Amino acid sequence: MPIQKTEKIWHNGTWINWDDATLHVASHVVSYGSAVFEGIRCYDTKQGPAIFRLREHMQRLVNSAKIYRMELAYSMEQFCNVATELVRRNKLNACYVKPIVLRGYGDAGVNPLTSPIECYMACWPWGAYLGKDANTKGVEVCISSWTRIAPNTLPAMSKAAANYMNSQLIRMEASFNGYTEGIALDSSGYLSEGSGMNIFLVHDGTVYTPPLAASVLPGITRASVMTLCEDFGIPVKEQVIPREMLYIADEVFFAGTAVEICPIRSVDRIAVGKGQPGAITKRLQEEFYALTTGTKPDRHHWLTPCNVPVAAGTR
Ligand SMILES: Cc1ncc(COP(=O)(O)O)c(C=O)c1O
Repeated sequence: MPIQKTEKIWHNGTWINWDDATLHVASHVVSYGSAVFEGIRCYDTKQGPAIFRLREHMQRLVNSAKIYRMELAYSMEQFCNVATELVRRNKLNACYVKPIVLRGYGDAGVNPLTSPIECYMACWPWGAYLGKDANTKGVEVCISSWTRIAPNTLPAMSKAAANYMNSQLIRMEASFNGYTEGIALDSSGYLSEGSGMNIFLVHDGTVYTPPLAASVLPGITRASVMTLCEDFGIPVKEQVIPREMLYIADEVFFAGTAVEICPIRSVDRIAVGKGQPGAITKRLQEEFYALTTGTKPDRHHWLTPCNVPVAAGTR
């Protein structure tokens, strides 16, 4: 999916043209991957564009920055207001909103503390991440030979650019071997997550997902899926999961902003259940779309409409 240029990008408190959002090649982030970011979906609802779980995403951005000692000049609420204004200014409905905080042009060398912090936010139209039929038919995935970042190496709870070098290895290997995605195991050999998405499985009516200690990103879609399971009275267990549980699961699915809720129909060419999206996956997916697109009342207050400015501290 090529990025579609839009009109305006926010940079450190000002609105600049898309083509002016450039960086010097000697910026710290270019050599050392020193950036934290978010990926957020804005949905087209009857009430106009609305951003899904905006505050939770911006809180994670602030947390990611804090882990890397990046001092922010903006609060979570300010970032939320920028996001809604960004969508309004670019006159978009459904789109992807990407705030990024990076270390810019300053001193040479690894020490990041003397390079300036730059904040940007852009948005652009965005469709299905794993192909147009992925969410209806399901995808074929493999276990990656690459292990997820180990504890105390790169912090998995921070959505940092550098983590995505590991993700790229997982994703490239899967593509070269003819799979849509790869699933990484953690450094102890237990299930972790996909290259840019969390994973769930269903076994005997219970939904399972790996814990944060398995080097997963604390996904906002992951948390939403867990809430929907609670709403439906479906038991959810966050626990260490051995690889082979994927092969005997009744259902397996990915969850993430990009993939939304995406059924997995085989793992390492072993069919998941009957090799088709399962009933629990479909029920969660249906409810997720009903809530994100506003066709059902927003009972969890997950949507922030963009057509009205957001007051500080409110949705
Ligand atoms: C590595 C990784 N895990 C999980 C997720 C899912 O997180 P979220 O649902 O907040 O998008 C993402 C997407 O941002 C990701 O990059």
